Amino acid sequence: MRFVKKARYVKKIVAQARKKGKIIGFVPTMGYLHEGHLSLVRIARRKAQFTVVSLFVNPTQFGPQEDLQSYPRDLKRDKILLKKEGVDLVFYPERTEIYPEGYSTYVEVQGLSTILCGVSRPGHFRGVTTVVLKLFNIVQPDIVVFGRKDFQQAVIIKRMVEDLDLNIKIVTGKIVREKDGLAMSSRNTYLSEKERENATVLYQSLVWAKKAYSGGVRDPHWVIDKMRDMIENRGGKVDYVEAVDQKTLKPVKHLYKGTLIVLAVYFGKTRLIDNIVL
Ligand code: PAJ
Repeated sequence: MRFVKKARYVKKIVAQARKKGKIIGFVPTMGYLHEGHLSLVRIARRKAQFTVVSLFVNPTQFGPQEDLQSYPRDLKRDKILLKKEGVDLVFYPERTEIYPEGYSTYVEVQGLSTILCGVSRPGHFRGVTTVVLKLFNIVQPDIVVFGRKDFQQAVIIKRMVEDLDLNIKIVTGKIVREKDGLAMSSRNTYLSEKERENATVLYQSLVWAKKAYSGGVRDPHWVIDKMRDMIENRGGKVDYVEAVDQKTLKPVKHLYKGTLIVLAVYFGKTRLIDNIVL
């Protein structure tokens, strides 16, 4: 496995692999890897013959009041995990490698990026699409794997790929959860013991919604109100709970098979997201 800090070396190494006829798979991450990330790496390994993973805490997707400084990092551990997974190339650029002095170009997917998480995190998805397009241009992958935990992110990236005629196939992987159902996240480390315990209500409320749907409930408002109550009773501060269409992310009037229930909730200062498909 190669560890590379410079974009020009990534381009060189990937070009060599491509010359040998290898399909290039790519998993972009912000590091501090957990089983969720590794599940995506395994998908990439299955679908491609040369697998690249990036580790980069992207400053442009953090708001001024957000956790850029405190975002957890453990490069040494990440490298060990990726080596074990049989990754071919790890790209871990410095900030200035991605955003050199004078950097001024941004990519924005309109509409999709200003709803749901885009409301309380203005500019977040602009930072995501900008860095992801840059990483795509550096790595030049055939296949890229994203997690469905960040469902909106995956929808936005697919839109960008289509809108900008990128020759890339986007694949998504299912949400990997802790034993008690909490979706794995690098940010879970911020939670106090009590908050961690209470945060299990998120998946419980999503599973409850799915059961209600299976039991014949079709009114999204009734389901959402009940979910809010469940979450607030456990000390969660709801940013949003919505029932939306999987493709458009617009609220649905009636629940149907395939409806996406999405939520973002604060436990203390930590903002967690999760979702389930009915
Ligand atoms: P990060 O939060 O590190 O996540 C990297 C990838 O792992 C994303 O595709 C995310 O959806 C996926 N992921 C995270 N937790 C998961 C879980 N529990 N189960 C399955 N997949 C999970 O998302 C980002 O980084 C950044 O926005 C990035 C795309 C790298 C751009 O900076």
